[in-house]
Amino acid sequence: MNIKPFKLERYYTIHEFSAKYSLCNSDCEAMTIKELLSLEKGATDKFHNLWLGYTETKGHPRLRKEISNIYTKVTSEDVLVCTGAQEPIFLFSQANLKSQDEIIVQSPCYQSLHSVPESIGCKIQKWNVKYVNNIPTFDLEELKKMVTSKTKAIYLNTPHNPTGFHFSKEEQLAIVEIARTHNIIIFCDEVYRELEHKSEYTIPAFADIYENGVSVGVMSKTYGLPGLRIGWIASRNSKIIENIAIFKEYTTICNAGPSEFLAEVALRNRNKILERNLNIVHENLPLFDRFFETYQDLFSWYKPNAGPIAFVKMKFDTEDMNFAQTVLHKQSVLLLPSSIYDLQGYFRIGFGRTTIPEALKQFEVFVIQNLLKA
Ligand SMILES: Cc1ncc(COP(=O)(O)O)c(C=O)c1O
Repeated sequence: MNIKPFKLERYYTIHEFSAKYSLCNSDCEAMTIKELLSLEKGATDKFHNLWLGYTETKGHPRLRKEISNIYTKVTSEDVLVCTGAQEPIFLFSQANLKSQDEIIVQSPCYQSLHSVPESIGCKIQKWNVKYVNNIPTFDLEELKKMVTSKTKAIYLNTPHNPTGFHFSKEEQLAIVEIARTHNIIIFCDEVYRELEHKSEYTIPAFADIYENGVSVGVMSKTYGLPGLRIGWIASRNSKIIENIAIFKEYTTICNAGPSEFLAEVALRNRNKILERNLNIVHENLPLFDRFFETYQDLFSWYKPNAGPIAFVKMKFDTEDMNFAQTVLHKQSVLLLPSSIYDLQGYFRIGFGRTTIPEALKQFEVFVIQNLLKA
């Protein structure tokens, strides 16, 4: 297998645990096992008595049931539990695509969404973001024109990493219509779903509204539990899920039992966790509003209506990787430069963690000392 290094994950591997402050994480604030277990009476005792044998390849039936409760039409039979979201992205492509298949990928994107199909030999067409008056948009007419008789799948991610863009219900239906007309699979990475800043921005999961829709979810982002390494893939097309389940026997076989148990507790109590994490987002967003208002000559941002991340445009002459390295070196604040996504002139910020106010304060110190003219 010939696959390119994952630029974003390489960057985090090098910097994530040495930077003193981080302004760019895409996960919400984590919690301890003790805090998580305290959400449910009797959970601590059950956790201590958990049997550490192998678990079911598809995931524990109770966990699959809890996951299916997030959806309207998807049932537990349609769900395969995996390791994080990275494993289902990898497995879906490996198990369901062949070399010479054409795929369309919303771009820029989390790299595995295009690098894994590329490594199989698929022809990749990028459906690129267009900024109109500083607002990220994806042109549906352009998408229609990209479809050919060989198009096997459209890869989407909404709410979108890195731009913060989120499809409207109308856009979503239009994409499903295009896919249905040409019998194309829609593979949607929905790891930031359920973190819509207002309920009116919620759209259905692609696996619920399209018979050939595939939805990927995870405990890492919206729920703030990346250490569990529990994610899933859901589709009402049973062939797609079965192909992946067979392939999974070559990667992880089954999931970590303690993680499955803890994910089940978290999902049974997901409304409490969602409320907690949305509160953090709503406390952090006004700080960025104030910051970008104060420094509007230097930066502009698209304030998203969903998810924990946003993309910031730099209005001064700089190279984004150099800029991020300078900020890291001088103030120990981690930013995610856009060249990680093969795009110039932006950096990604995150606002799902309680440590954001201090990290933003430190970044402001850098801005005042280095970017403001005397
Ligand atoms: C859009 C997207 N998909 C998938 C992943 C991978 O998630 P996990 O780390 O839970 O495997 C990430 C992580 O940053 C992501 O942003």
